[in-house]
Amino acid sequence: MDIFKITGGRRLEGEITISGAKNAVLPIMCAAILGDTPSVLRNVPDLKDVKTMIDILTSLGSKITFEKGTLTINPKGINKFEAPYEMVKKMRASVCVLGPLFAKYGIAKVSLPGGCVIGPRPIDIHLKGLKAIGATCTINHGNIILKGKALGGEVFLGGRFGSSVTATANILMASVLCKGETIIDSAAMEPEVVDLANFLNKMGAKISGIGSHALTIKGVKKLHGCDYTIISDRIEAGTFMIAGMITQGDLFLRKANANHLRALIDKLIETGAIIKEYKNGIRITANKRPVSTDIITLPYPGFPTDLQAQMMALLTISPGMSVITEKIYPERFIHIAELNRMGANISLEGPTAIIKGVKALSGAPVMASDLRASAALAVAALVADGETTIERVYHIDRGYEQIEKKLCHVGAEITRIKENQK
Ligand code: EPU
Repeated sequence: MDIFKITGGRRLEGEITISGAKNAVLPIMCAAILGDTPSVLRNVPDLKDVKTMIDILTSLGSKITFEKGTLTINPKGINKFEAPYEMVKKMRASVCVLGPLFAKYGIAKVSLPGGCVIGPRPIDIHLKGLKAIGATCTINHGNIILKGKALGGEVFLGGRFGSSVTATANILMASVLCKGETIIDSAAMEPEVVDLANFLNKMGAKISGIGSHALTIKGVKKLHGCDYTIISDRIEAGTFMIAGMITQGDLFLRKANANHLRALIDKLIETGAIIKEYKNGIRITANKRPVSTDIITLPYPGFPTDLQAQMMALLTISPGMSVITEKIYPERFIHIAELNRMGANISLEGPTAIIKGVKALSGAPVMASDLRASAALAVAALVADGETTIERVYHIDRGYEQIEKKLCHVGAEITRIKENQK
């Protein structure tokens, strides 16, 4: 397993181009199998999770090529309708094949995703929605089996934590080929859901209300493949904004979309950043330590849970006390112990982290545990005194395209030590 060695204390300055959005492309790849002809997806990030999804769709029988950020998916050969445990256990987004397989073939079998390091991640909302539009659902030997015909209906997707992003994606994909009309109430509004709906409409679907909590889908008989460019990754952009801020740097993030990052921008300005928005990106400049603040993670357009850990890393060096409450995944705090090993002073009271600012962090050996927690450790290491080694960086590789190259390009000192070089 690769390791990162990061030497702290370098100011980040320059330009980084943001890649395509992981959480947009994964469901869109699944949606491509709804077409009768191939789809071409552009601005696709070269990530481990994208490769896992290629493996899943290939195992179903689709033909896929991936070259220089362009993915072509030909669904013609699909003759299997199952995503097995070996694949689902690697990536929970595998569950996104449920909706399209059920819609197009009337059958789908997906292994139930198990536990997750960021807390419980049930899929009851997915199943409730799929049943509401006509699926019969059984759970057998750890697999979910859907059968039947998508008919349409009214679906309420609100859960304890607001709506669900991939459940909304699944119901959308399941309903586009329905006989009748589907209304999804309390749909997730994340930009990645909007991107999926726009892609489906380009394939010939009839979805209205895109970007709101109420989506109406008029079923069509057929969908065709199309050529589509994936939106830029708001979480990658947000992570680099925080990296720019913590190093008191000056970064231009090409392709970052400020409209997708309002909650973060608001908080970064509050903590002292200077932010300028352009048509083709965002510039962040900082020339002092961040001011402490309080944050609550919420569904979009609230502050994203996927930036909670990175923001916590930033606040470890804010004078005074900051408070972060995690409302989406109340147990997503595995990074606290590792940040404390680097000299941070963070304690946890239920789903609320209390961060008492310290003067400086110190480099230490730490362990990556999940994608965003690992990104937070990398952010902290950028300002820590001395060297930090991060083990198990495959977690970062799941969702950040060439993160060390991008950060080194703007002045960071990061070396990847490959498994075979140790
Ligand atoms: N939930 C349920 N039942 C369900 C589905 C969700 O109780 O059937 C709960 C979850 O346990 C959680 C909340 O609802 O407490 C929201 O979960 P959601 O379903 O929205 O999450 P997701 O769709 O599984 C996506 C992203 C995550 C991101 C969350 C929240 C993808 C592939 N994944 O997951 O991304 O954290 O939305 O924004 O889109 C990441 O990229 O690091 C990541 C974890």
